[in-house]
Amino acid sequence: IERTLVLVKPDGVQRGLTGTILSRIEAKGYRLAELKQVAASRELLEKHYEEHVGKPFYEPLVEFMLSGPLVAAVFEGHRVIEGFRSVAGTTDPTTAAPGTIRGDFGRDWGVKVQQNLVHGSDSPESAEREIGIWFA
Ligand code: GTP
Ligand code: MG
Repeated sequence: IERTLVLVKPDGVQRGLTGTILSRIEAKGYRLAELKQVAASRELLEKHYEEHVGKPFYEPLVEFMLSGPLVAAVFEGHRVIEGFRSVAGTTDPTTAAPGTIRGDFGRDWGVKVQQNLVHGSDSPESAEREIGIWFA
């Protein structure tokens, strides 16, 4: 069975959208296999975002992810990686389609990094790598 790592980022937790976000994923039919709230360490986030080292939004992204608690979850089901990314919407919340998490609840707040509520793994390899980081 395919698995994916989902994070409700600090903006989603702070705005009280954790339950709404998780329930949309469950309602699509995926199974919630693991769930916890965490205050991530810089070390953990540097591993999680190693592919983005050197990009202009890297440091603001890590700072944003350190700004408050986040919720880490594992969902499972056939094609859950693709399915979650469809439920989440595109990266930029300003233009993400209505009906998606980012499209319905996200916007541009005029800060350095896109605060787009959720993260989802982008391939089976990154899902297994990320689940190992967050649920060691
Ligand atoms: P995730 O599901 O969080 O991984 O989003 P993604 O796969 O849609 O985006 P990606 O992995 O490319 O980037 C990780 C995160 O960095 C995004 O979710 C945004 O928060 C932020 N980000 C990505 N691209 C940009 C960008 O061009 N500008 C800014 N300001 N932030 C970005
Ligand atoms: Mg990504």
